[in-house]
Amino acid sequence: MRVPVDTGLFGEYLHYGMPLALVTVLDENNAPNVTTIASITPLPGEQPRLVMGVLAENYTSQLVEKQGEFVVNLATPDLRSVVRACGMYSGKDADKMAICGLTPMPANHVHAPLLAECPINIECQVDHVLKVDDLYLFVAKILVLEVAPELSDGRGGVLVDKLELLFYAFGHTFARGPMVGSGPI
Ligand SMILES: Cc1cc2nc3c(=O)[nH]c(=O)nc-3n(C[C@H](O)[C@H](O)[C@H](O)COP(=O)(O)O)c2cc1C
Repeated sequence: MRVPVDTGLFGEYLHYGMPLALVTVLDENNAPNVTTIASITPLPGEQPRLVMGVLAENYTSQLVEKQGEFVVNLATPDLRSVVRACGMYSGKDADKMAICGLTPMPANHVHAPLLAECPINIECQVDHVLKVDDLYLFVAKILVLEVAPELSDGRGGVLVDKLELLFYAFGHTFARGPMVGSGPI
């Protein structure tokens, strides 16, 4: 037997474990906007890609559609208040970079900045845009995935056991649990 959950709660429970990202994109004055996004999924294939779901009402969807590029900055547990503020205010009304005291760092392949506070940064270039009802799906090429020096193994890999990321699951935030296997399964 199974008990159905209210459809109104799907938005919470279908996020059953996604890293929380602070997505940066430039506005028309070349100033960065930063927004909290949970709906990001990496995609399989020879060309690394991800898909990001952004509500049409959010400023970020307008900016990403116009600029065609953005940076996914993965948040750490100490950035919870930043994640909350960037998910509450709109860049239409507030300078979230300044309010949250975030530090922009030049990216290597896109104009939007990396966030120095986030240890993993993913530079993305949009190559497909799908509008579904009130949602934009941005399918983007991953141009580069960069990590803070203390997370690099020095051979192009990442010291994953040192990674402290913030996860969004079932409508709540979590820190990562212990690694339970050293391979993919
Ligand atoms: C934990 C969390 C996760 C969120 N995930 C998403 C998301 O995946 N897609 C989205 O469009 N908005 C998401 N939001 C809401 C936006 O961050 C929020 O509406 C923000 O104010 C939009 O800012 P903008 O207008 O500057 O783009 C999330 C908010 C929080 C707090």
